[in-house]
Amino acid sequence: MIGIFDSGAGGLSVWKELVKLMPSESYFYISDAAFCPYGPKSKNLILERATLISRFLIERGAEIIVAACNTATAAAIKELRQLFDIPFVGMEPAVKPAALLTKTGTIGVLATQGTFKGSLYLATSEKYALNKQVKIIEQVGEGLVELVEQGKADSPEAEQLVKKYIDPMTAAGADCVVLGCTHYPFLEKAIRKVSSDNFNIINPAPAVAKRALHLLENVRKTDGANPGIKKSEKSGFETTIATTGSKSDVLEKLANDITQEILSNGLTNESQKAGLKKKFIVSLDI
Ligand code: DGL
Repeated sequence: MIGIFDSGAGGLSVWKELVKLMPSESYFYISDAAFCPYGPKSKNLILERATLISRFLIERGAEIIVAACNTATAAAIKELRQLFDIPFVGMEPAVKPAALLTKTGTIGVLATQGTFKGSLYLATSEKYALNKQVKIIEQVGEGLVELVEQGKADSPEAEQLVKKYIDPMTAAGADCVVLGCTHYPFLEKAIRKVSSDNFNIINPAPAVAKRALHLLENVRKTDGANPGIKKSEKSGFETTIATTGSKSDVLEKLANDITQEILSNGLTNESQKAGLKKKFIVSLDI
């Protein structure tokens, strides 16, 4: 089983890429909605939550854990890797691909306060952009996580707020934006609306999913788990989506929309289809 967690529903944008790459796996997703948003919270509180959640996921059989949250990665990934002996995959703002892609030499990064403050972002931005004469326009996406959590990602309100953050980037000559928070892919439509056709939106989730696949394969090689079973023959997989907050229709809707999108994009294997449809939405008291 692959464990995933985020402060809310944002990490589902990473779950989507994981399922696309690994449709024959079971997933346990935790939305820590009782403590959402993480962005303005202290490192200690986020570390405490991430530790508790990771322990819970490991006790339920997680072979690897994806911290599908840039803010939690910034605050806790180093400590989680020291505390537990399974692999952790974290989110890293995609500054490197953006710096390689930009034609204007200016990139935008949209992230939470916590992510910008983390040493991971500082090191990455220095190494891949600033040291290479690529300019970064940083913008804290205040209020965006809340809009996604309220199911308002496609609202005029979201478009207005997104415009407020993207406009200064384009005005400074940026030709791409790095989505430095896993909630933001749900705002892609709004970002497209307020930017020009050749403005690139860079989401690190597909690269994170590839890294997770690689680590999972390594774990199974070393553990010798399911040696003779081909992935496509494995059955009984499912996704559990849990929230520490009150039961959320938005969380359920976003998960169902992703399932529909993957199904309509040509998933043909019957057991994979059944596995993807099998979802449990539960409340967690941790
Ligand atoms: N989805 C999160 C991230 O990637 C958390 C945002 C928040 O809770 O503030 O940073």
